[in-house]
Amino acid sequence: MKVGILGSGTVAKQIASGFINAGHQVKLGTRDAEKLKEWQKSIPGVTVGSFSDAASFGEVVAIATLWSGTENALRLAGIENIKSKIVIDITNPLDFSSGVPPKFSVTYGNSAGEQIQNWLKDSKVVKAFNTVSASIMINPKLEEGNPDLLIAGNDLDAKKVVTEIAKSFGWQNVIDMGDIKQAFWLETFAMLWIEFGFKYNHWTHAFKLLYK
Ligand SMILES: NC(=O)c1ccc[n+]([C@@H]2O[C@H](COP(=O)([O-])OP(=O)(O)OC[C@H]3O[C@@H](n4cnc5c(N)ncnc54)[C@H](OP(=O)(O)O)[C@@H]3O)[C@@H](O)[C@H]2O)c1
Repeated sequence: MKVGILGSGTVAKQIASGFINAGHQVKLGTRDAEKLKEWQKSIPGVTVGSFSDAASFGEVVAIATLWSGTENALRLAGIENIKSKIVIDITNPLDFSSGVPPKFSVTYGNSAGEQIQNWLKDSKVVKAFNTVSASIMINPKLEEGNPDLLIAGNDLDAKKVVTEIAKSFGWQNVIDMGDIKQAFWLETFAMLWIEFGFKYNHWTHAFKLLYK
Protein backbone atom coordinates (compact mmCIF):
# COMPACT_ATOMS: atom_id res chain seq x y z
CA MET A 1 0.00 0.00 0.00
CA LYS A 2 1.16 3.59 -0.63
CA VAL A 3 1.05 5.71 2.51
CA GLY A 4 1.38 9.48 2.71
CA ILE A 5 2.21 10.92 6.11
CA LEU A 6 1.65 14.62 6.78
CA GLY A 7 4.23 15.52 9.38
CA SER A 8 7.90 15.40 10.23
CA GLY A 9 7.84 15.02 14.03
CA THR A 10 8.23 12.07 16.38
CA VAL A 11 4.87 10.56 15.44
CA ALA A 12 5.37 10.84 11.69
CA LYS A 13 8.81 9.21 11.97
CA GLN A 14 7.54 6.40 14.20
CA ILE A 15 4.63 5.42 12.02
CA ALA A 16 6.76 5.78 8.89
CA SER A 17 9.09 3.11 10.26
CA GLY A 18 6.06 0.97 11.19
CA PHE A 19 4.63 1.16 7.69
CA ILE A 20 8.02 0.51 6.04
CA ASN A 21 8.64 -2.53 8.29
CA ALA A 22 5.18 -3.83 7.39
CA GLY A 23 6.15 -3.67 3.69
CA HIS A 24 4.38 -0.48 2.60
CA GLN A 25 5.67 2.43 0.51
CA VAL A 26 5.89 5.67 2.48
CA LYS A 27 6.25 9.36 1.64
CA LEU A 28 6.49 11.93 4.44
CA GLY A 29 5.21 15.45 3.79
CA THR A 30 6.72 18.57 5.35
CA ARG A 31 7.35 22.25 4.58
CA ASP A 32 11.07 21.58 4.96
CA ALA A 33 12.28 18.30 3.46
CA GLU A 34 15.91 19.29 4.12
CA LYS A 35 15.59 18.68 7.87
CA LEU A 36 14.69 15.01 7.29
CA LYS A 37 17.79 14.22 5.19
CA GLU A 38 19.76 12.53 8.01
CA TRP A 39 16.75 10.66 9.43
CA GLN A 40 15.78 9.46 5.94
CA LYS A 41 19.09 7.59 5.68
CA SER A 42 18.11 5.52 8.73
CA ILE A 43 14.87 4.25 7.13
CA PRO A 44 15.73 2.74 3.75
CA GLY A 45 12.89 3.14 1.28
CA VAL A 46 11.14 6.11 2.87
CA THR A 47 10.74 9.17 0.64
CA VAL A 48 10.14 12.80 1.61
CA GLY A 49 8.37 15.63 -0.19
CA SER A 50 5.94 18.48 0.34
CA PHE A 51 2.60 18.06 2.11
CA SER A 52 1.04 18.00 -1.35
CA ASP A 53 3.46 15.31 -2.60
CA ALA A 54 2.68 13.07 0.38
CA ALA A 55 -1.09 13.60 0.09
CA SER A 56 -1.06 12.78 -3.64
CA PHE A 57 1.17 9.74 -3.11
CA GLY A 58 -0.84 8.06 -0.35
CA GLU A 59 -3.73 5.68 -0.88
CA VAL A 60 -3.94 6.08 2.87
CA VAL A 61 -2.98 9.46 4.35
CA ALA A 62 -1.97 9.91 8.00
CA ILE A 63 -2.12 13.31 9.71
CA ALA A 64 0.63 13.82 12.30
CA THR A 65 0.82 17.59 12.62
CA LEU A 66 0.74 20.04 15.50
CA TRP A 67 -2.96 20.82 16.01
CA SER A 68 -2.55 24.58 15.51
CA GLY A 69 -0.88 23.91 12.13
CA THR A 70 -3.19 21.14 10.95
CA GLU A 71 -5.67 23.21 8.96
CA ASN A 72 -2.77 24.93 7.19
CA ALA A 73 -1.03 21.59 6.55
CA LEU A 74 -4.23 20.24 4.97
CA ARG A 75 -4.59 23.39 2.86
CA LEU A 76 -0.98 22.92 1.66
CA ALA A 77 -1.63 19.19 1.11
CA GLY A 78 -4.65 19.98 -1.06
CA ILE A 79 -8.09 18.72 -0.07
CA GLU A 80 -8.56 17.34 -3.62
CA ASN A 81 -5.43 15.18 -3.20
CA ILE A 82 -7.03 13.43 -0.21
CA LYS A 83 -10.52 13.04 -1.66
CA SER A 84 -12.08 9.55 -1.18
CA LYS A 85 -9.02 8.32 0.72
CA ILE A 86 -8.73 6.80 4.17
CA VAL A 87 -7.26 9.39 6.54
CA ILE A 88 -5.73 8.37 9.86
CA ASP A 89 -6.01 11.33 12.22
CA ILE A 90 -3.38 11.08 14.97
CA THR A 91 -3.60 14.71 16.12
CA ASN A 92 -4.46 15.90 19.59
CA PRO A 93 -5.96 19.38 19.96
CA LEU A 94 -3.36 20.78 22.32
CA ASP A 95 -2.61 24.44 22.93
CA PHE A 96 1.00 25.03 23.99
CA SER A 97 0.74 28.83 23.94
CA SER A 98 0.86 29.02 27.77
CA GLY A 99 3.56 26.34 28.09
CA VAL A 100 3.11 22.86 29.53
CA PRO A 101 1.05 20.95 30.39
CA PRO A 102 -0.76 21.95 27.21
CA LYS A 103 -4.39 22.99 27.36
CA PHE A 104 -7.18 21.05 25.68
CA SER A 105 -8.37 23.36 22.91
CA VAL A 106 -11.64 22.00 21.52
CA THR A 107 -15.17 21.56 22.81
CA TYR A 108 -17.74 18.79 22.68
CA GLY A 109 -19.07 18.37 19.13
CA ASN A 110 -16.07 20.18 17.68
CA SER A 111 -13.21 17.75 18.28
CA ALA A 112 -10.11 17.72 16.10
CA GLY A 113 -11.35 14.53 14.44
CA GLU A 114 -14.74 16.09 13.63
CA GLN A 115 -13.14 19.29 12.33
CA ILE A 116 -10.82 17.26 10.10
CA GLN A 117 -13.74 15.18 8.80
CA ASN A 118 -15.54 18.45 8.10
CA TRP A 119 -12.57 19.93 6.22
CA LEU A 120 -12.11 16.64 4.32
CA LYS A 121 -15.79 16.01 3.56
CA ASP A 122 -15.13 13.37 0.91
CA SER A 123 -12.46 11.47 2.85
CA LYS A 124 -12.88 8.68 5.38
CA VAL A 125 -11.34 9.96 8.59
CA VAL A 126 -10.42 7.47 11.31
CA LYS A 127 -9.14 8.79 14.63
CA ALA A 128 -6.43 6.41 15.81
CA PHE A 129 -3.12 6.21 17.69
CA ASN A 130 -3.77 9.60 19.41
CA THR A 131 -4.32 7.97 22.83
CA VAL A 132 -0.85 6.42 22.99
CA SER A 133 2.69 7.70 23.12
CA ALA A 134 4.63 7.79 19.85
CA SER A 135 7.14 5.47 21.52
CA ILE A 136 4.64 2.60 21.55
CA MET A 137 2.67 3.26 18.38
CA ILE A 138 4.74 0.43 16.90
CA ASN A 139 5.35 -2.80 18.92
CA PRO A 140 3.13 -1.79 21.85
CA LYS A 141 4.29 -4.44 24.25
CA LEU A 142 4.80 -3.20 27.80
CA GLU A 143 6.15 -5.14 30.80
CA GLU A 144 2.69 -5.19 32.38
CA GLY A 145 0.86 -6.32 29.25
CA ASN A 146 -0.48 -5.18 25.93
CA PRO A 147 -2.44 -1.91 25.93
CA ASP A 148 -5.57 -1.36 23.83
CA LEU A 149 -5.95 0.96 20.87
CA LEU A 150 -9.13 3.03 20.57
CA ILE A 151 -10.33 4.16 17.16
CA ALA A 152 -13.36 6.11 15.85
CA GLY A 153 -14.72 7.10 12.47
CA ASN A 154 -17.81 7.08 10.27
CA ASP A 155 -16.73 4.52 7.66
CA LEU A 156 -16.74 0.87 8.73
CA ASP A 157 -14.48 -0.32 5.90
CA ALA A 158 -11.96 2.43 6.63
CA LYS A 159 -11.93 1.35 10.30
CA LYS A 160 -11.29 -2.25 9.19
CA VAL A 161 -8.28 -1.11 7.16
CA VAL A 162 -6.93 0.94 10.08
CA THR A 163 -7.47 -2.04 12.40
CA GLU A 164 -5.42 -4.23 10.05
CA ILE A 165 -2.71 -1.57 9.91
CA ALA A 166 -2.63 -1.40 13.73
CA LYS A 167 -2.40 -5.19 13.94
CA SER A 168 0.52 -5.14 11.52
CA PHE A 169 2.19 -2.68 13.94
CA GLY A 170 1.72 -5.23 16.77
CA TRP A 171 -1.58 -4.08 18.35
CA GLN A 172 -3.60 -7.08 19.56
CA ASN A 173 -6.78 -5.36 20.66
CA VAL A 174 -8.22 -2.52 18.60
CA ILE A 175 -11.51 -1.15 19.97
CA ASP A 176 -13.95 0.60 17.64
CA MET A 177 -15.58 3.34 19.77
CA GLY A 178 -18.05 4.41 17.10
CA ASP A 179 -18.43 7.33 14.72
CA ILE A 180 -16.22 10.39 14.38
CA LYS A 181 -18.12 12.18 17.18
CA GLN A 182 -16.34 9.77 19.53
CA ALA A 183 -13.07 11.48 18.55
CA PHE A 184 -13.88 13.99 21.30
CA TRP A 185 -13.60 11.27 23.96
CA LEU A 186 -10.45 9.83 22.41
CA GLU A 187 -8.92 13.29 22.53
CA THR A 188 -9.95 13.89 26.15
CA PHE A 189 -8.61 10.41 26.92
CA ALA A 190 -5.26 11.48 25.48
CA MET A 191 -5.42 14.46 27.83
CA LEU A 192 -5.76 12.08 30.79
CA TRP A 193 -2.62 10.29 29.52
CA ILE A 194 -0.82 13.65 29.33
CA GLU A 195 -1.93 14.82 32.80
CA PHE A 196 -0.70 11.52 34.28
CA GLY A 197 2.62 12.03 32.48
CA PHE A 198 3.15 15.50 33.94
CA LYS A 199 1.99 14.53 37.44
CA TYR A 200 4.24 11.47 37.72
CA ASN A 201 6.90 12.40 35.14
CA HIS A 202 6.24 9.08 33.47
CA TRP A 203 5.96 8.84 29.69
CA THR A 204 5.67 5.18 28.74
CA HIS A 205 2.32 4.33 30.29
CA ALA A 206 -0.72 3.12 28.36
CA PHE A 207 -4.28 2.06 29.09
CA LYS A 208 -6.02 -1.29 28.85
CA LEU A 209 -9.73 -2.00 29.13
CA LEU A 210 -10.39 -4.89 31.51
CA TYR A 211 -13.55 -6.96 31.19
CA LYS A 212 -15.30 -9.31 33.56
N1 LIG B 1 4.30 12.87 20.41
C1 LIG B 1 3.45 11.93 20.83
O1 LIG B 1 3.81 11.01 21.58
C2 LIG B 1 2.02 11.98 20.35
C3 LIG B 1 1.15 10.93 20.69
C4 LIG B 1 -0.16 10.95 20.21
C5 LIG B 1 -0.59 12.01 19.42
N2 LIG B 1 0.28 13.02 19.13
C6 LIG B 1 -0.19 14.10 18.25
O2 LIG B 1 0.38 13.85 16.96
C7 LIG B 1 0.64 15.09 16.29
C8 LIG B 1 2.12 15.14 15.90
O3 LIG B 1 2.91 15.16 17.06
P1 LIG B 1 4.51 15.22 17.00
O4 LIG B 1 4.95 15.26 18.42
O5 LIG B 1 5.04 14.16 16.10
O6 LIG B 1 4.86 16.56 16.24
P2 LIG B 1 4.43 18.10 16.44
O7 LIG B 1 5.62 18.85 16.88
O8 LIG B 1 3.20 18.20 17.27
O9 LIG B 1 4.05 18.50 14.93
C9 LIG B 1 5.05 18.62 13.97
C10 LIG B 1 4.43 18.77 12.62
O10 LIG B 1 3.46 19.82 12.60
C11 LIG B 1 3.66 20.60 11.42
N3 LIG B 1 3.25 21.98 11.62
C12 LIG B 1 3.43 22.75 12.73
N4 LIG B 1 2.96 23.99 12.50
C13 LIG B 1 2.49 24.01 11.22
C14 LIG B 1 1.87 24.99 10.41
N5 LIG B 1 1.65 26.25 10.84
N6 LIG B 1 1.49 24.64 9.15
C15 LIG B 1 1.72 23.40 8.67
N7 LIG B 1 2.31 22.42 9.41
C16 LIG B 1 2.67 22.72 10.66
C17 LIG B 1 5.15 20.53 11.18
O11 LIG B 1 5.37 20.79 9.81
P3 LIG B 1 6.82 20.87 9.16
O12 LIG B 1 7.23 19.46 8.92
O13 LIG B 1 6.59 21.62 7.92
O14 LIG B 1 7.69 21.58 10.17
C18 LIG B 1 5.48 19.11 11.57
O15 LIG B 1 5.35 18.24 10.49
C19 LIG B 1 0.22 16.21 17.26
O16 LIG B 1 -1.09 16.63 16.96
C20 LIG B 1 0.28 15.50 18.63
O17 LIG B 1 -0.59 16.10 19.59
C21 LIG B 1 1.56 13.02 19.56
